[in-house]
Amino acid sequence: MSRTHSPALQPLAAKELIIPQGTRPAVPANTPIIITIDGPAGTGKSTVARMLAQKLGLDFLDTGAMYRAAAAIMLERKYDKDQVGELVSTVIGADLHFDWSQDPPTILAWDTPIDHRIRAQEVTDLVSFVATLSELRQHMVRKQRIIFAQHPHLVTEGRDQGSVVFPDAAVKFYLDADPEIRAQRRIDQLGIDPETMTLEEMCERIVERDRIDMTRQDGPLVCPDDAIQIDTSKMSIDDVVELMYERTMAVVADLPKIDS
Ligand code: DC
Repeated sequence: MSRTHSPALQPLAAKELIIPQGTRPAVPANTPIIITIDGPAGTGKSTVARMLAQKLGLDFLDTGAMYRAAAAIMLERKYDKDQVGELVSTVIGADLHFDWSQDPPTILAWDTPIDHRIRAQEVTDLVSFVATLSELRQHMVRKQRIIFAQHPHLVTEGRDQGSVVFPDAAVKFYLDADPEIRAQRRIDQLGIDPETMTLEEMCERIVERDRIDMTRQDGPLVCPDDAIQIDTSKMSIDDVVELMYERTMAVVADLPKIDS
């Protein structure tokens, strides 16, 4: 398999995300806005969402972290896959929320940070199942709408943000990329030794996760009709963010304002 991925589209550490302020206008404070970014894993969504939010002066919501937190709780409580009622009650009781003073905001359950646990492989292996649970999704959708009410200048990324959670979003993006390129990015991101997992194996995993995300009954991964589609396979991260910035700023002037 060829390695044609863009080395520029790698996840960045928080300190690398500092963009010089100044010359480019951000979204005015009197203009509430929600920008949704959906798409499969490995398209660069999280990285570009954070950068776009920073460039536009908006908050950033990683909704995948909420499903990952639910999967981490399921593992911790050792629930079986048929204990859906118990899982949903426990997740509701955990009151998942974010610490917005951190960049990126960190997720808490029972007021305790759990972000260090949600990227573990066992969580990644379980989260696709957790994300199929309709009762849990309804809870997450409610929470995400509350978060927007509290943070009305928001870039949110996930799988169902433009289609289900915020169908009236001012700007919707749908990111995609070739599965092979997404697999290579994931290997690079996780620092996986090629001896432990080949590109082909990672590609198979990614395609299987896509299948589960796209075929679930509730909130499947779809491209909303009114979304701007971007294929990030051959684009640099800066080019993706610049394109999204331009498309957003083109509509900002026409959005309703609030009295300040
Ligand atoms: O983007 P991610 O890999 O952190 O997402 C983790 C899982 O959660 C993935 O299986 C898709 C699912 N997810 C979802 O179903 N809906 C969302 N809004 C966000 C993520």
